[in-house]
Amino acid sequence: MGSGNKLAATVVVVTFAVLMAAVTTTCQAAYGPPNPASCGLKVGYYYAKCPHAEEIVKNVVGAAILHNPGVGAGLIRMLFHDCFVEGCDASVLLDPTPANPQPEKLSPPNMPSLRGYEVIDAAKAAVEAACPGVVSCADIVAFAARDASFFLSNSRVAFQMPAGRLDGRYSNASRALDFLPPPKFNLGQLVANFAAKGLGVEDMVVLSGAHTVGDSHCSSFVPDRLAVPSDMEPPLAAMLRTQCPAKPSSGNDPTVVQDVVTPNKLDSQYYKNVLAHRVLFTSDASLLASPATAKMVVDNANIPGWWEDRFTKAMVKMASIEVKTGGNGEIRRNCRAVNH
Ligand code: HEM
Ligand SMILES: *[C@@H]1O[C@H](CO)[C@@H](O)[C@H](O)[C@H]1NC(C)=O
Repeated sequence: MGSGNKLAATVVVVTFAVLMAAVTTTCQAAYGPPNPASCGLKVGYYYAKCPHAEEIVKNVVGAAILHNPGVGAGLIRMLFHDCFVEGCDASVLLDPTPANPQPEKLSPPNMPSLRGYEVIDAAKAAVEAACPGVVSCADIVAFAARDASFFLSNSRVAFQMPAGRLDGRYSNASRALDFLPPPKFNLGQLVANFAAKGLGVEDMVVLSGAHTVGDSHCSSFVPDRLAVPSDMEPPLAAMLRTQCPAKPSSGNDPTVVQDVVTPNKLDSQYYKNVLAHRVLFTSDASLLASPATAKMVVDNANIPGWWEDRFTKAMVKMASIEVKTGGNGEIRRNCRAVNH
């Protein structure tokens, strides 16, 4: 073998090794089935360590939703906002401190709209009473989103949530702005935003269906949907103009329901709304902007069980983004602060 060939062989071997390392350390494939197992996550992770952990969280979430279904919507959104910034590591829960005055939760995508923090605190307190120091806040956020989906869908959206995430120690408001998509995003921007987190076009379309529950502040859609011409259905636009100021401000920013037909029910009504142009955001409306995504909208709207099945899988996939399962995290004692 000449030295040229040796060099070529070495390049091939090194390239292969690098590729293999990438394959084995990347648990979030952009294509193909979600594989949370390769992220070190496991269904039933706490069965031996804290047998009642999942049941305890479920009971706390169920009681909170009975009292106020809106927090259920907040908990589903919380998983998204946690996972897209530093991975699913409960970084969204950290309160400001003198050392870190601007954590994620103070950034505009989260403040003042993200809700459900007290439910996570209550679940953590109940789980700590049963098994101190065992269950991470990141897993509680994932379980709570799963349980909220179950309750708000009248148990139609039921699935197992793999666990074993550790809690992060870093939370930075400007990174929430970097990674959480604003409602004025068009289809191309949304696809790129989700691809950056290993999620595909269909994951994006299917997860957007979470806008079948919960509320929005007027400021999230008035500027690009009511103040200027848009494709919003005129009767919905007229109704929203009675609920929203023409120029929302932090002192005058009411909330409205996202799904005018079944506001508190997690169902596929969202896709019917998209087809009827009865949705709030540019991002929602943009799902009709390509033939491929429009077809997904039609299927999710019309085939019974189609969306529910895909939503469960996409939630599990989203909940495995950049998880910390090695020595790079901790199990927080208090979900609002890193351990000392
Ligand atoms: C596709 C890109 C997305 C954009 C641009 C987006 C944007 C928004 C905005 C602007 C709001 C209203 C916030 C407010 O003004 O109060 C909202 C609410 C909500 N979002 Fe999204 N979102 C997206 C994806 C998701 C995903 C992936 C999920 C979860 C799977 C989700 C779940 C929710 C829920 C449940 C609410 C209602 C929250 C509540 O009532 O407290 N969203 N979203
Ligand atoms: C927060 O993240 C931004 C980049 O998004 C970076 O410029 C800034 O230095 C970070 N701040 C801290 C305190 O790490």
